[in-house]
Amino acid sequence: LLPQEFIRLKRDAQTLPLEEIKHFVQGIADDRISDAQIGAFTMAVYLNGMSREEVVALTTATRDSGHVMQWDSLNLPGPVVDKHSTGGVGDLVSLVLGPWVAACGAFVPMISGRGLGHTGGTLDKLESIPGYDPYPAPERFGQIVQSTGVAIIGQTGNLAPADKRIYGVRDITATVESIPLITASILGKKLASGLDALVMDVKVGSGAFMPTPQKSRELAESIANVATQAGTPTTALLTDMSQPLAPCAGNAVEIVETLSLLRGERPQSRVMQVTRELAVEMLLAGKLAQSRDDALAKLEKALTSGAAAEVFARMVAELGGPKDFMERSEHYLPKANVVQPVYADNAGVVSRIDTRAVGMSVVELGGGRLRNDAKVDHSVGFSAIAEIGDRVDADTPLAFVHAANEDAARRAAEQLKAAINLGQSPVEADTLIQDTFR
Ligand code: URA
Repeated sequence: LLPQEFIRLKRDAQTLPLEEIKHFVQGIADDRISDAQIGAFTMAVYLNGMSREEVVALTTATRDSGHVMQWDSLNLPGPVVDKHSTGGVGDLVSLVLGPWVAACGAFVPMISGRGLGHTGGTLDKLESIPGYDPYPAPERFGQIVQSTGVAIIGQTGNLAPADKRIYGVRDITATVESIPLITASILGKKLASGLDALVMDVKVGSGAFMPTPQKSRELAESIANVATQAGTPTTALLTDMSQPLAPCAGNAVEIVETLSLLRGERPQSRVMQVTRELAVEMLLAGKLAQSRDDALAKLEKALTSGAAAEVFARMVAELGGPKDFMERSEHYLPKANVVQPVYADNAGVVSRIDTRAVGMSVVELGGGRLRNDAKVDHSVGFSAIAEIGDRVDADTPLAFVHAANEDAARRAAEQLKAAINLGQSPVEADTLIQDTFR
């Protein structure tokens, strides 16, 4: 089919022939299809949707539009598994989860992103560590995954190049918010890392990428189903992002929290509960555990023995960071010039948090980017953020702000106060793990 005939079919709400989807996506990767044609296609999909089979075809075509990693030749003695999340605030899950499941026998080639909009990025957080290089050569990436069990790196060159073009066009044609297009975009990239299994963390709430709980649910169901049909068994969890997941948001502050969680501190915190559930799914999908109880026992051992922390330390050293990072992290991590408590104007109980606003405040402090090429200040953010249900008063702050100067600290403090609602009666937080899709 000519591209215009292909686009016409979707414009008229017809079903696309699956072979033609492959052809069109390859044309995008080869630059035979123009941006105008991509824009018309994505708008047609936005308006008329796609069948499950069409989304599977769009996903596999996106995956196959560039290099697809192969792990067979390394004869790894365990499954290759990974996690992906729709992103959030205080969401340091990847940093704990990767080393933790690697310590249980999995191999995790984790390709992570930078902060996007109000959400933090795993790569930005890792780059708080001096020397950490998230762009090793491909062979070196394989070696580190093989020897350490996990490597968290950035996206390089030729992974799902069709998505790069499609996403760029969607961004400027009001066609981002389409479940078929989001599904194929996320999975096209993720499945190119040659996984045996995937878990997906889809967020719901005031800091979530999807605008409503119903849309988050639809995305989770779509991703689990499409990835599995595309040949990579996938489970999606629907988890709460109606407040920062860990009680901190920023880059270095989240690394500090990661280290204490890997040392076994606060094992029942909200972020550890979500991380543990995702880890259980990964061990089950990778056949490293026989049952949920078996998975929990293995995870407990890997944490309390220090094995998970050791894997994290090895990964940091292998990727160019300090060899004694775990022992001397305070010596290495950047510190903000100003660190101050933020007090609420009146005492009360935290009843609601505008999580997106908290994330945007971190961006404004310099912890994220307002422009693509901007530099990130790794030292800034918030720590010890009060959780929903916590009581705050003249002695107990809402959080500590970490800022480059007094002015920035004052602005961020006002933004944080505006983002946190207080009430007078006890409040319970939303359920943390709201659903599971297989
Ligand atoms: N993240 C992606 O990678 N793609 C989307 O379409 C949305 C979020």
